[in-house]
Amino acid sequence: MDIQTVGIIGSGLMGSGIAQTCAAAGLKVIVRDIDDAALQRGVAAIASSLDRLVSKGKMDAQQKDTVLAAIKTTTSLGDLADADFIIEAATENLGLKQKILKEVDAVAKPGCIIATNTSSVSITKLAAMLAVPARFVGMHFFNPVPLMALVEIIRGIQTSDETFAATDALARKIGKTPIGVKNAPGFVVNRILCPMMNEAAFVLQEGLATREEIDAGMKLGANHPIGPLALLDLVGLDTFLSVMNVFYNDFKDPKYRPAPLIQEMVDAGYLGRKSGRGFYEY
Ligand code: CAA
Ligand code: NAD
Repeated sequence: MDIQTVGIIGSGLMGSGIAQTCAAAGLKVIVRDIDDAALQRGVAAIASSLDRLVSKGKMDAQQKDTVLAAIKTTTSLGDLADADFIIEAATENLGLKQKILKEVDAVAKPGCIIATNTSSVSITKLAAMLAVPARFVGMHFFNPVPLMALVEIIRGIQTSDETFAATDALARKIGKTPIGVKNAPGFVVNRILCPMMNEAAFVLQEGLATREEIDAGMKLGANHPIGPLALLDLVGLDTFLSVMNVFYNDFKDPKYRPAPLIQEMVDAGYLGRKSGRGFYEY
């Protein structure tokens, strides 16, 4: 399957990173968000990430301009009608994703593959929103997308072999290393990573150590690149809370209970880097 144009729903942390990565691989990209302010934030994040790559000598200024020129933005879903492949990367909320996918299914051209970047929601459940669920797949990127090598490709029970193979090929084309995963809450990496981050919030809540000591502990004692509380701030506490709630509700196992401190912080609007304050201040 020849994929030339990728449509992306959502220009937040992930949508902007996916757009940048696809454009840097030579694809045309069209990003849709709900308003111009959100789109402008997304484009600014891409420009700043490209500036970092230019300043490190990993890209030249002309390549930066080419990447930016390949990315179009829109608030109109109808503009995704030309896309060969659409990746949904909107807010982690089941009802919202179900609504978006019904709308996307109505505008996507025949043969267009529709993927979701959800961190946790069942691919099988989301596929059921489409008239042809065989064209739906999970394509789970990692944050920050331009730097992280992995993409999990998740089959719902309805996903066709053709859809899976085309998604695997696209992941490789944009320079990522895919792994194939069966559908289950949180797939593979988040199933392992998120309970660790949740435990870090419990450790802080119980006053066992300071935020700095917890993060230093996991960096120096387990060789993690950043500590779990700093990682929570990078991921976004609202997104993380949604993920833990999917684990808790779908597995029906109390071991996935979100740390009450995370709920408290989300209620206060302390969402991490994206709101300027989380476990740390930005
Ligand atoms: N765009 C471009 N370059 C970037 C960048 C971005 N967004 N962010 C960082 N960089 C570059 C920096 O310029 C720097 O470049 P050099 O090495 O050439 O100097 C390099 O990346 C390292 O950056 P920093 O020194 O600022 O910070 P760091 O050493 O901590 O590295 C990191 C940043 C690679 C993100 C590292 O902290 C890391 O690997 N963190 C863990 C990330 C992780 O676990 N992600 C998964 C989250 S879970 C998830 O995504 C799934 C989900 O569904 C929730
Ligand atoms: P975010 O909060 O940074 O961005 C979400 C974006 O979706 C916002 O710009 C919002 O305006 C937009 N949006 C909401 N409704 C929309 C609609 N109807 N149409 C178009 N756009 C809409 O969130 P994020 O961190 O980018 O997460 C996006 C998705 O990626 C979620 O499913 C999340 O679980 C997943 N994900 C997140 C991470 C992470 O580390 N943050 C990692 C992997 C996957």
